[in-house]
Parts: sequence; structure tokens; C-alpha cells
Amino acid sequence: CGIVGYIGPKKAAPILFDGLEKLEYRGYDSAGIAVLENNELVVEKKQGRLKGLEDVVGDKFSANIGIGHTRWATHGKPSDVNSHPHQDSTGNIAVVHNGIIENYLKLKEMLIEKGHDFKSETDTEVVPHLIEQYYKGDLLEAVKAAVKELHGAYALVVTHKESPDTLICVRKDSPLVIGLGEGENFIASDIPAIIQYTRKTIILDDNEIAVITKDKVEIMDKEGNIIDKNIMNVDWDAVAAEKDGYPHFMLKEIHEQPTALRNTLKDRIIGDTVDLDNMNITADYLKDIKNISIVACGTAYNAGLVGKELIEGLLRIPVEVSVASEFRYRNPLVDDKTLVIVVSQSGETADTLAALRESKRRGSKVLAITNVKGSSVAREADFIFQTIAGPEIAVASTKAYSTMLLGFYLITLYFGQLLGKEMPKELYSGLKELPILADKIIIETEKQIESLIKPFEGWGDSFFIGRGLDWHVAEEGSLKLKEISYIHAEAYAAGELKHGTLALIEKDIPVIALATQKDVYEKTVSNIKEVKAREGYVIALAQEGDTEIGKSVDQVLAIPKVPSLLTPILTVLPLQIISYYVATSRGCDVDKPRNLAKSVTVE
Ligand code: G6P
Repeated sequence: CGIVGYIGPKKAAPILFDGLEKLEYRGYDSAGIAVLENNELVVEKKQGRLKGLEDVVGDKFSANIGIGHTRWATHGKPSDVNSHPHQDSTGNIAVVHNGIIENYLKLKEMLIEKGHDFKSETDTEVVPHLIEQYYKGDLLEAVKAAVKELHGAYALVVTHKESPDTLICVRKDSPLVIGLGEGENFIASDIPAIIQYTRKTIILDDNEIAVITKDKVEIMDKEGNIIDKNIMNVDWDAVAAEKDGYPHFMLKEIHEQPTALRNTLKDRIIGDTVDLDNMNITADYLKDIKNISIVACGTAYNAGLVGKELIEGLLRIPVEVSVASEFRYRNPLVDDKTLVIVVSQSGETADTLAALRESKRRGSKVLAITNVKGSSVAREADFIFQTIAGPEIAVASTKAYSTMLLGFYLITLYFGQLLGKEMPKELYSGLKELPILADKIIIETEKQIESLIKPFEGWGDSFFIGRGLDWHVAEEGSLKLKEISYIHAEAYAAGELKHGTLALIEKDIPVIALATQKDVYEKTVSNIKEVKAREGYVIALAQEGDTEIGKSVDQVLAIPKVPSLLTPILTVLPLQIISYYVATSRGCDVDKPRNLAKSVTVE
């Protein structure tokens, strides 16, 4: 879900809508705002996209203070009444919330007994009622008392009719940023909501409470002790969070990849050396570790699969890759001799953050690969590799994935150097070439796009196959296709297909086969032939100059020639593009696929 808040001299509603629009990628089941209009607290909320709410509200409010929310449903189905802001029984208090209040049922029972009247099925609604319960004329004291009773994760913004010049917010395990303006201040769950107004931000830490007026921001701990916070300057460009002429963020972000790769490489490879000294990892520390554990979700997990191959292949250190939501609860084998690498574009994914904390609790040091400076993951990790992809808005991740991969290459080579291992020289020059080659393959794929998407017409199923690194990229390709086009897509190790899944291959079913790995090329071609023998329709991604594969498949897309180890960053690009165009040809809303959200801050 997404949160915004505004207090200052301007009309609040347009600023709230503008911020919510930037945050819609965080959830789009419903939206709502609360403003203090002529000394009355007015709430407008509605199921469905933000646009529906905007149409209802129009410009009827001139209030200068307000809060807004865009929801991704967890407790309670999407509906008008379950939308935020939620209110207390008197209607004087309004609250927006991200996260989950785990003990809400108990609190709700207790509050109902005391006479509170509940309207929604949400966990959030207990918060305004609890505040009401404790309110004796001092909102801050009431919020402090209420928060003490909450278990779970929350970013909360509270407004009260009797405090017309103050917003109060609290954070625990769900991000909240305060934007500092001149005579005005902003609140948001994510930076894109406020960068067009200010670059000066304060990031709230867990268990901090902020009291915000138009001229002042005061931050304190739970006991009310004032905390001196750093002001962080955001270096993102406001335009970077706009569509810039593209019909969708996803297409824009696909096209931004050459630049994102270039920016992520910048100053990090000098001649034949990778320089990541600012990560502050020492050779002594690395020599002492016994294994590496990579933990992430979604696309970031898929990047981790490639990371494992690189690290094990080049460094011979055992690596395990785990889905973060599983890792924490399975008594993971990590200790002070394990380096845990967490991968997260947003740096706010609750599952990943929980895994990071569990790893630290077990004595491991944590290296974070993340795209967001100042994110929770970045702040809690021991070492950071930042990808410089710029803000990624589309729910389906593209430029974050390719730059995460690049991160794994650079980290692996750097570790190799620290450990005194001989690293293949061609990787250094090869990595520097990638931005140009990425550009080339994007152009080439779009040229051929019509024939590449035609085989998917009318199909509800598809397959992505490959061996080794190709298999891991196939995983990402299939995730891309299913999340935005709703076509069921399965990624399979090409050699494993014959052990069961081959039964699903039928005439003309679309199969994308990646065949770029030299060592297993012949074997992959055999597997492709097994598919062809069952009359599947095969599109092959093969290295440029491969004149053989065309004989065994229906279509070939040539990937610029690079060492086998470097192909993933190039092979994923056509897969993203194919997914995008298949989805748009079906009329899908690619930037906001059903049931999903960009940043999932609940476990
Ligand atoms: C959500 C998004 C995915 C993303 C995953 C991990 O589920 O829809 O696209 O890969 O979270 O996000 P992170 O920010 O941790 O990389």
C-alpha cells in the first residue's frame, strides 16, 4: 500500500492525488483521502483505481492538510468501506496504515466491549479506535499510548480534527519518509511520491514518532525523547519517475536498461580491476567465510539464481539461494561463517527484511544488493552494493533485474580479486560492452516483435526452457510473462522436461528455448528436438553466428556474441520485451497487473 500526507499553505488534495498516483504501483485495489476542511474532518474513499476517487472528489476541497492512501488488500476484500483512511467512532480521527496489525482481533474485541463501533473488516480500523480510547485532548500522548498496544508492522499517519495544524506518524517495519519543504512538509511511504516537491528527506526508523507541522518536524522515540535525525538528499531525477512519452513505465524501463547498466558499471571497473572498496569488505573477512546464502523474493530471487552460478563457478564457495518467505522459518544454516546476500530492488520487502534480521541474529554479516539508497535493507545491512537503475515504477521488474545481475558479476570478480584468485580477463572487457549490446538486442527484438508474439495468440500456457544460466533466465522470462499477461508460463531445466513436463507439450504450444551456453549447447538442442517431435512451437534464443539451431526450431532470435557466462543480461531483454507486447496485445494493464503490488511490505 502507499501513503502520502501534506501540511502547508497549498491545497492538500491535488498534492495527495499527485503523490498517490506516483504510488499506485504499491497497490491499486482502492484509494482514499482525509482532509480537514473548514474545521471538519472529511473522508472520501473508494474501491478501484485512484482515477475513480479523483473523479468523485474533483476540486471540492480547499483544505491545507490531509492524508491519502492507496491499498493492496490483505485483511478484508477490496471495497469502499475497507479502504483507508479509517476513522474512530466520533469521526474526529482519521488514520492511514501500511503493514499488518497482528493482534487486531483481540484489540477489536476489547474495543467493541468498550462501546466502539466498527465498520470494516480491516486490521487497521482498530488504530483510530484505540487512539480515540486514549485521547484526552493530546493527540501525541494518545498515539503514543495506542502504539504501545500494537503488534505487527505499521507505518501510520494520523490526523485529528482538534489538531488542525499537526500530522503525527509512526513507523515500525514499514517504510515512511518525511519530505522537508519551505513552510510545508510532506509524508510518504516512498520517495517517488514527493520528489517533485523536495529532495530533502528524513527517513523514519523503527519505533520513531514524528510530529509534523508546516514549519517543523520533530522526531522522538516511544518515550518522547527527541532524536536528532540526518537529512538525506535524494539524487533521483523527478523526470525519472515519469513515463516520458512511453505508453507504460514498463516499456520505458526496458529501454532504460543500457543506461542503467552503464550507470551501475560507472567507476566500478577500472581496466582489469573491479573497484568496490567502498563496500568495506576485507580480504580477511572473506577468507574466513565458509558459505554464502542468497535470500530474496520474486525477480530478485531469480537474479540470485544467476548469482549462485557465478559465485560457485568462479570462487568455488558453496552458495544456497532461498526464497525469503521460506528462509526465516526453516531454521536456516547460517552463522558467523556465512555471508548472507539479500537482494531487493525496493529494499523494503517485508519477507526479505525479516530474513536479513534473522541472519544477523544468527551472527551472519549481510551484504545488500538494492536499488534504493536509505531503504530499510540498505540501512540494516553490513555492506551495500547499490544498483543505479533509478526509480523503477512498473510492478514487473526489468531494469532492477539486469542491474542486480550486473551487481553479482561485479561482486564476484571483486571477491575473486580479494581472495587472490585468477579471474577470467574477458569478463572485465565483456561487462563494459554490455550496455551497447543491450541497446542492440532491444532494437533487434522490437524489429521482429510481431512474429515473436504471434505464437502466443490464443494460448493460456507456455514454456521457457534452458540449461545452466539459460534456465535461470528462463525462470525470470516465465515470471515476466505470467505476471503481466496472465498466461501460465513454466520455466524448466531443458533436460528435466522429459521427466514429466513433456507430457504437456502439444501442437503449437509456445516454447521459448534459450540455447546460449556453449558447454551444454548440444544437449540443449537435443531437448529442443524432443519438444519439436511433439510439435511444440519453438522460438530459440541463440548466440549470433549459430547457423545450426535454425534447422531445429521455428524462429531464432540472435543474441550478440559474448562469453557464455555473460549472456543472462542480454537474453533477459527479449524475454521482457516479448512479455510486454504479448500482454499489451491482450489488453492487459502491464504497469499494474491484477492482484500484485510493486513493494510488498507485509509477510
Ligand atoms: C513484489 C514485486 C516483484 C518483486 C518482489 C521483490 O512481489 O511484484 O516484482 O520482484 O516484490 O521486490 P524487491 O523490491 O524486494 O526486489
